[in-house]
Formats: sequence, C-alpha cells, structure tokens
Amino acid sequence: MIVLDGKKTAADIKEEIALEVVELKRRENIVPHLAAVIVGNDGASITYVNAKVKACERVGFESSLIRLPENTTEDDLLNEINILNVDKDIDGFIVQLPLPSHIDEQKIIMAIDPEKDVDGFHPTNVGKMALNLPTFISATPYGILELLDRYNVETSGKHVVVIGRSHIVGSPMSILLAQKRKVGNATVTITHSRTKNLKEITLQADIIIAALGIPEFLKADMIKDDVTVIDVGITRVPDSRKKSGYRLLGDVDYEEVSKKASFITPVPGGVGPMTIAMLLKNTLIACRNKI
Ligand code: GUN
Repeated sequence: MIVLDGKKTAADIKEEIALEVVELKRRENIVPHLAAVIVGNDGASITYVNAKVKACERVGFESSLIRLPENTTEDDLLNEINILNVDKDIDGFIVQLPLPSHIDEQKIIMAIDPEKDVDGFHPTNVGKMALNLPTFISATPYGILELLDRYNVETSGKHVVVIGRSHIVGSPMSILLAQKRKVGNATVTITHSRTKNLKEITLQADIIIAALGIPEFLKADMIKDDVTVIDVGITRVPDSRKKSGYRLLGDVDYEEVSKKASFITPVPGGVGPMTIAMLLKNTLIACRNKI
C-alpha cells in the first residue's frame, strides 16, 4: 500500500510555484495577488482561509484577507465583489463557502469576474471545464488529478466510482475523469444519497473518490483488493484529548481500508493540502493570463 502524500506533493508544487514567482518578478516585474473574502465566524472556514493566505506568503504572492461580519447583507457582499472585480492589482479572488443562509450563494458566485474566479465556481468556468476547454479547474478536483498524476496512478480504462455529487467535488470530478485527458479516460459512476445497492457498485471500483461528508463511511467490506482510494472528507469530531478539542476524520475508515488498498490518501495530509496548492496554481495562471 502506498500513501498518496498530499502534504509532500503540495510542498513540491508550492516550491515550483515559488520559483515561477521569482521569474515573473524578474522578467515582468509583477507579483501574483490573491484575495480571499470570508463572511462570519465559522471556525473551520476561518482556519481554511488563513491557511490559504499563509500559503500565498510562502510562495511569494501578495494576499489580501477581507473579513466581513456575519450580518453582512447580500448587497454589501456584491459591492465588495465589484471592488475586487475592477481592482487591477488583484489577479484572482475567492469567496469562502458556505455563506450565511441570508445570502444567495449562487448570486454571489455569478457576480465574480470569471477571469478572476480562481475557485472555478462561476458557471462560465464550470461550462468550460465540462467542455474540456482551458479554464480554472476547481482546486479540490484539480488537486486530486495532480496527485493521481504525480503518483502515476493509471486512470485510463479504469472504473472510477465517485461517492457524492456536490458542485465543488463529486460532480466536477466525475466529468473530469471521464474526459479525454492525461489523467482521465476512465469509466465513471457517480453515486449519491439516493443510490441503491451502493456496496455492489463500490465493490466494482478500481478507484473510489469518497466525497460525501460522512466520517468513516467507506468500510473494508465495500471495496475490492488493490483499489485506489481518494478521501475528500474532512469532518471535525469532538475529542477532549486534543488541544484543539477536535480531531479530523475523513469519509474513509482508514484503519481497515488501508489494509486492502493499493493507494490511499490520509486525512489530514491528503487532499486538503493539495487544494491549497492548486488554488495558488490557478492564481498564478490568472496572473499570467493578464500579460
Ligand atoms: N469551502 C469549501 N471548499 C471551498 C473551496 O474550495 N472554495 C471556497 N471558496 N469555499 C470552499
């Protein structure tokens, strides 16, 4: 069994990006700039956004963090987005999700300039992705493709079973892996909460992408030997023994599944760090697109 080390791979990618930043600065005198907007005080979201901003500093990007209160109105947020859309200094920006329930998430995403939408969430960019045209591929699916690529996991002709149909992971992952691309050409089954006989389907999988958000959902009796398992889940579970008061659990029962798998991502240290590295990569692409 080989652990797909997202932490190490993300560090490699960030090092590559840092070298490119030095080159960009030398040749064009420009520095990529990512902005992140966060509304409210959700602990997990703040942790993620801080990690994104910190990662920018590490690779030599400029970064801006815009923190808005929980009671920010939809109009206030739309106004903030407009400011970022026209700010020539900002190459790309993200609005951390989920947003408070009084704000229409789709309306916010649609207000972002697609050229600056480094999350790849705008319908224009989702459409381009689905058509296999050059665009920003969302960071989590992009990170999974990159991890499979760098560990030479064969996807062509393989049966991939995706568990979960979210707009952020399950849906784009199923589209990308079926496409004619380097990490692609797979036969893909997408499953979800209404799927009948899920175990019968997962038992046929060569590669499983677990992205449903239920801790330790995938068990050893649901997989065949030598499967590749990508665990996208990251749930905070209360744990009084930890200083933070919680521990992180993936969607895969790592203890038992890792004994049967050929490749597996750990949680933490698997998909999570890759997501941040690929967001930086998209910001670098956005910056280069302006030259
Ligand atoms: N919330 C969970 N994942 C993401 C992400 O990739 N981007 C944004 N903006 N919000 C998220």
